[in-house]
Amino acid sequence: MDEKPSLRTLLTMLEQNNLLTRIEKEADPNLVIASIMAELDGRPVMIEKVKGHSMPVVAGICSDRDYFALGLNTKKQDLLQKLSGAFQSTKRPPIVDDAVCKEKIYSNPNLDDLPILTHFTGDGGPYITAGVAVVKDQDLGQNMCFHRLMKIGRKKMVARIVKNRGTDTALKNAGGELPIAICIGAPLHVLLAAACSPPLGHDEALIAQGLDKTPLVRCETSDILIPAYTEIVIEGRITDEMTNEGPFVDLTQTPDLIRQQQVVEVDAITTRSDPIYQALLPSSQEHKLLMGMPKEPSIYTKVNSAVKATNVVITTGGCSWLHGIVQIEKHKEDDGKIAIEKAFEGHGSMKNCIVVDTDIDIYDEKDVEWALATRFQASKDLVIKTAQPGSSLDPSGIHEEGKKSLTDKMGLDATIPFGVKKEMFKKVEFSRVDISKYLGD
Ligand SMILES: Cc1cc2nc3c(=O)[nH]c(=O)nc-3n(C[C@H](O)[C@H](O)[C@H](O)COP(=O)(O)O)c2cc1C
Repeated sequence: MDEKPSLRTLLTMLEQNNLLTRIEKEADPNLVIASIMAELDGRPVMIEKVKGHSMPVVAGICSDRDYFALGLNTKKQDLLQKLSGAFQSTKRPPIVDDAVCKEKIYSNPNLDDLPILTHFTGDGGPYITAGVAVVKDQDLGQNMCFHRLMKIGRKKMVARIVKNRGTDTALKNAGGELPIAICIGAPLHVLLAAACSPPLGHDEALIAQGLDKTPLVRCETSDILIPAYTEIVIEGRITDEMTNEGPFVDLTQTPDLIRQQQVVEVDAITTRSDPIYQALLPSSQEHKLLMGMPKEPSIYTKVNSAVKATNVVITTGGCSWLHGIVQIEKHKEDDGKIAIEKAFEGHGSMKNCIVVDTDIDIYDEKDVEWALATRFQASKDLVIKTAQPGSSLDPSGIHEEGKKSLTDKMGLDATIPFGVKKEMFKKVEFSRVDISKYLGD
């Protein structure tokens, strides 16, 4: 089978570009590896010797848009369009009979064999954080997404399953136990697809196939189809047993609530012959980008349905979840305010949104603030929405067990007002000079 694309092909590309940091000294999966990841946040890292384990740990491969561009063979500024295109893809991935993720099959599995990391001192236990979870809904078909999983025994984990999304819906439709496969060390484009939230019934494997080749293979203990190029697959069942999940430090680097969540029983583990374990540090650049980037096409599409959108970025300063910048080509007075409304529709968890014109570099926070400083007047350009459904991740929101979190939202229209002399609002360029003529020898 053609070894492409996989976690390994990406690691090779990163190494060829001097972007992979290798740690040769032994490191402990209990707190130490997480601290190394925090120190090297934003860089792909391979920890070669893991205390008590035979397999290496890799992290940080999703921690910069440049790595996505490299892995997806595109330019950073074209990622949004590439992902938007993949959302439209209807091509089903091919199904193969044999796969590298089954080079070793353990029918009496033991989670202790995996270097599952404990990230923060107060965490409830070791957590799998980079596992792509695949389930099959009896009505809606397969669903692929992320679920953090806390290890609570040799064959037991507890999964954080957000209500009314793919896995929760499949679980309700099953009316009892639901088979699940957790894929650790899946190809980069599969991670990105799994982080997307298309409407229920839209299989993220189609998005993955729209991004790059995604051969699938059937699980050993269920009929779930999983990405063939995966390092480690945990097969099991989501049961109706409930237990405490957490504490867990989440995206905002603040502790999430402890909740009663479903226990997952492990039935088998399959791996490559020499597997690499993938970890993701909660609240790191990698966590943020994976959460936020897939929301950019959703916002873009919504805004574009009403006004001319040209770009969207979910900012890392806003935890890559709560803040977004929308760039539009303004044609009417109220285009900025319409864009704000549509942007909130495109990403229900977004709390604050800034709309700018096409001359503003939305990847440059100074330029965005310059637009606010020179184009925005709060009495007419500010939109405030109180007590809206919002993110469970923002500690300043209103959170009640079993109810959707509530938050206030703010939209700032920092576009040039309509009907004014536009030149008065544009940066005047300096005339150019050949500086080498004026610097010393
Ligand atoms: C790194 C990462 C971790 C996530 N962890 C969880 C989680 O623990 N539980 C959960 O329900 N969703 C989690 N999510 C969000 C889901 O993966 C995301 O909302 C998913 O796209 C929902 O898709 P679905 O509606 O098709 O199920 C996480 C996302 C990312 C990128």
